[in-house]
Amino acid sequence: MQAGRKLISAELRQRFCDARNVLVLTGAGVSAESGVPTFRGGGGAGVWKGLPFEVISSAEMLERDLPAVWEWFNYRRGLLEALKPNPAHEAIAGWQDRFGGLTLVTQNIDGLHQAAGSREVIELHGSIWRARCVRCGQGQSVREISVDDGAPPCLACASPMRPDVVLFGEMLPAGAFERAAAKAASCELCFVIGTSAVVYPAAAIPEIARAAGAYVVEVNPERTPLSDLSDEVLTGNAGEILPLLG
Ligand code: APR
Repeated sequence: MQAGRKLISAELRQRFCDARNVLVLTGAGVSAESGVPTFRGGGGAGVWKGLPFEVISSAEMLERDLPAVWEWFNYRRGLLEALKPNPAHEAIAGWQDRFGGLTLVTQNIDGLHQAAGSREVIELHGSIWRARCVRCGQGQSVREISVDDGAPPCLACASPMRPDVVLFGEMLPAGAFERAAAKAASCELCFVIGTSAVVYPAAAIPEIARAAGAYVVEVNPERTPLSDLSDEVLTGNAGEILPLLG
């Protein structure tokens, strides 16, 4: 039997076969093998023009210098433009037709789950491919507007638009966390893939699933604060491990 396959316990294989309601929470690590820099653990997304990402990606910076925030996200989008989903994204997309109830919750703003074919994705932190009006809230795909000269004007009310991404110091999109938490409280199997599990409220989702009796599986090359809470820890890269589950 392939060495990798031994990684997956017989218990997990059985639960994977029997499960109907499955929740998957992903973080930057699920996109690492596609070439997207992670935020922590030396992933390289840490500093922009001398500013730590927590500063440039903050509500305070949005107030102070909206064009600078656009420049940062235009740079990130430029990095993403040529990147493709990896076998981890593809495996998860394949699960949506396998389980009666698959809930995919992501902290990622890169859109790679959708690019891999995932139809329903709860984007807890928004999307780098969307803009939102600061006044009327009108949303717009950035593929349909020019974002290179600072803040694009809203097509509805001409006020400036901002990246439709959750910045540090901001609330999550209305209802996103609540929907994810409700699914976590009723799932049998919860996968936590490629997250350092330090940013809340996202990191509370596997805790809710565990408290409700779900079998929690962490996939990460490094230990996280969630590892001790998990029923099973699969140590390694998501793109190599997830396809082993079939
Ligand atoms: N497969 C699985 N996990 C991986 C891989 C891989 N190939 N490569 C790295 N990882 C793991 C790292 O070990 C780390 O634990 O992915 C995790 C990435 O952690 P972070 O960079 O902290 O990303 P994330 O947990 O998604 O951050 C949460 O913080 O900065 C904010 O809004 C941002 O959504 C982000 C949130």
